[in-house]
Amino acid sequence: MKVNKGLIPAAGSGSRLGPFTKAIPKELLPVGDKATIEHVVEAMSLAGIEEVVIVISPHKHGLSDYLGSGKRLGVRLTYVVQDERRGLADAVLAGEHVLKGPFAVVLGDNFFTPNTFLSDLISYHIECNADATLGVVEVDDVSRYGIIDVEGGRVVDMIEKPTQSQAPSKLGSIGAYVFQECIFDAIRKTQPGHMGEYQLTDSIKILIGEKKRVIYRKVNGIHIDVGTPQDLMRANACYMNLIDD
Ligand code: G1P
Repeated sequence: MKVNKGLIPAAGSGSRLGPFTKAIPKELLPVGDKATIEHVVEAMSLAGIEEVVIVISPHKHGLSDYLGSGKRLGVRLTYVVQDERRGLADAVLAGEHVLKGPFAVVLGDNFFTPNTFLSDLISYHIECNADATLGVVEVDDVSRYGIIDVEGGRVVDMIEKPTQSQAPSKLGSIGAYVFQECIFDAIRKTQPGHMGEYQLTDSIKILIGEKKRVIYRKVNGIHIDVGTPQDLMRANACYMNLIDD
């Protein structure tokens, strides 16, 4: 199996980073000397991914102005528009016509270091012959993440943004996944969930229910969901080696 395709959802509104995001897509806010999303594209390129679909929403053409064809970053980029914001699962489905075979998904507004995390996730997915592999870290605030329940290396349940008491573990999805094409059928069967949106977490639950091989990999390193000004500051401090986290 070879995983040489990727998809980066970048259609979110970034309201918590306003008013910057009235003018600039949140994925273009800088972490160090490059936009947040450029770090993600770099991680994909480093992992051997050659073709990347960027899912944008209307008015986010700044992303294609910044990233261009992808040549500078060693990948070929295709931009797909998600007309309405209907959740992460819907954003992934928007790329179906471009993606054939297994592919990686990494959220465009998340920062990870070291950027080899994706190579590791893909190798593990291939080695385990999985249908879906989720990158996870131990998190403090479970209410910001998709939290997994595990048994013998497999993911047996997943809850999107649970309360402390609902959370089956502290293992939170970092928004980096590797999927076989069966995820598209699972997304089509997904009903709107948390916040009335089509959640990728619920599509993954469908795969689990269908006895597909859904596994997880604990990622060594730092993950920051760059959703607030504080997160952006933390990601910058982390990138500049000013803090460990
Ligand atoms: C998304 C996913 C969630 C994941 C998180 C990582 O949530 O739905 O499962 O843990 O990214 O940052 P969002 O932050 O887009 O609301």
